[in-house]
Amino acid sequence: MAFKRVLGTANLYLRGRRHDFSRGAQQALIAHVQALEPDLLLITGDLTAQALTAEFQLALQDLQPLLDAIPVFMVPGNHDVYTGSAARRRTMERWFAPYMGLDGSGIGRSTIGPLTVIGLDPNRATWATASGLLPPAQLEALAEALAEPIEGPIVLALHYPVIDRHGELYDHPSHGLRNAQALIEVLDAAPRRPTLIACGHVHHGFLAQLELSDGVRIPVCDCGSSGHAHQPKRGRAAAMGLYELRDDGTMHLERYLHDGQGFVPEAGGAWASGR
Ligand SMILES: [Fe+2]
Repeated sequence: MAFKRVLGTANLYLRGRRHDFSRGAQQALIAHVQALEPDLLLITGDLTAQALTAEFQLALQDLQPLLDAIPVFMVPGNHDVYTGSAARRRTMERWFAPYMGLDGSGIGRSTIGPLTVIGLDPNRATWATASGLLPPAQLEALAEALAEPIEGPIVLALHYPVIDRHGELYDHPSHGLRNAQALIEVLDAAPRRPTLIACGHVHHGFLAQLELSDGVRIPVCDCGSSGHAHQPKRGRAAAMGLYELRDDGTMHLERYLHDGQGFVPEAGGAWASGR
């Protein structure tokens, strides 16, 4: 066991963090997505806690009904490259490469009908922090992709939010995307901008607006932890977002929260509860 996994295991079992997550909520989520029959399921990382083979195996087993039924695109999270070994061996790709759209350009890409989805991977194995860093090659590949004459909407997916719930740069050293500003500069210079930036990492979900230098605003959506245990006293619940991209270029957002039984529309509208 890598030393970092010893710390992670202590966090899960001695400090009790494993109780923050619920297999029941995760299975209810899978049933909910099956019932919604979306055109695309977008998974923004952290399928595992410690990038263990057993965790990936279970994730694949549980997700299989969805993988068989609907298009799925996923990007890894920092927990999916938890150790240097998992990062070097690219463990997540060994299990989920068919859903990551990797074409050798350094970024993930897939088209589903008129939609283009682009995935970035800023994750890296670090000793004590949970920060991410986008390699220059990915920033260049993204700039090239956004310069192509792409018809239809573009969704950009990456595990780390580029801004936080208050619209501030999410780049702090312990948990943030260290070069979030460099990503914003690529988006600033791009002739095409994503309709939506979908992210994860921050367990309390939020919706924020990234405003570019020319005034264009891109919604940054973190649906929240999709596998969280139902903890009403702590204000915590598993969540998922439903993004409807309409032909006229507008987008309708819905969010569902786990109520201990199943996933129900968030009271007051998407992200209204603050959970
Ligand atoms: Fe994360």
